[in-house]
Amino acid sequence: MSAPDTLNVKQALASRAAEIEAHLADCLQGRDIPERLLSSMEYSLHAGGKRLRPVLVLSFVRLMAGAGTGLGRRALPFAAALELIHTYSLIHDDLPAMDDDDLRRGKPSNHKQFDEATAILAGDGLLTEAFALMLSCAGEGQIPAERVARAAQAVAVAAGAGGMVGGQALDMEFTAKQGVSFEELRGMHARKTGALITVACVAGAVLAGATLHDVRRAHEYGCAVGQAFQIADDILDVVGDTATLGKPAGSDERQGKTTYPSLLGLDKSRLLAAERAAEAISNLTPYTGDEADFLRALARYIVERVN
Ligand code: IPE
Ligand code: IPE
Ligand code: MG
Ligand code: MG
Ligand code: MG
Repeated sequence: MSAPDTLNVKQALASRAAEIEAHLADCLQGRDIPERLLSSMEYSLHAGGKRLRPVLVLSFVRLMAGAGTGLGRRALPFAAALELIHTYSLIHDDLPAMDDDDLRRGKPSNHKQFDEATAILAGDGLLTEAFALMLSCAGEGQIPAERVARAAQAVAVAAGAGGMVGGQALDMEFTAKQGVSFEELRGMHARKTGALITVACVAGAVLAGATLHDVRRAHEYGCAVGQAFQIADDILDVVGDTATLGKPAGSDERQGKTTYPSLLGLDKSRLLAAERAAEAISNLTPYTGDEADFLRALARYIVERVN
């Protein structure tokens, strides 16, 4: 990708993230949440971040429902819910019992700013509130309840023990293990990072009322982008710097994690990430227009990003 393309997609991602940001700002308003717990939830939720998962939800809604249907706006709480789940996963990922990292999104990790018990509960709170937000999209004048139910069920499965949580469990198991194979590593990535990214794409398609074929393409795009995304994350842990990443560089090596670079080296890892991005793009061949162009550029950007 040429430099101006990279700049354009970065700007497009930032302006789409701003749309999500506006919704996240008040998504916990009106809830009767104890003050310290609410502060802790909001601390991590409003600390920035690329907002990739909600952006993917809305982009697939718009790609498959078409412009001018108003569905994108109505799906905003659903998209925001994916960011609540992602943020909870980061809070728990940083805990001393997991990756033990003290910096996240350029600020002290949640358990450093508050305390471990509060961080655990903030994660629990964000995860549970996410389902209230998703289900709030269903109903008269909103999104057909049957679509919302299917999409929310898919999110539950993807975020749960067979998906993201299962991937985090394997990550912990592998941290203490010698001789993790490439297949094991790939399977762990597909769960811990791929599952939520994939379901963001799938949920967008389902909320749009897409055909089975289209939902399948969204799924394939998401799987490939999810793999590319975590390979890039592993590479950035080696070559990135803490200030740009907003999280501690070198964390994986420090903890003896098996990663793409540790198993295959940087060059091979970069090659595989680029291959996954190309595979993602190949699933979008049937689609034209701005939304499809954005998703193609996003797949390329994911492997070229610096944070
Ligand atoms: C980091 O995710 C954790 C992984 C799943 C690799 P992001 O790189 O999307 O983090 P934010 O949301 O931008 O902070
Ligand atoms: C985190 O993977 C995946 C989830 C939070 C589900 P990492 O441990 O590699 O993420 P970072 O590098 O800390 O953001
Ligand atoms: Mg981790
Ligand atoms: Mg981590
Ligand atoms: Mg990482």
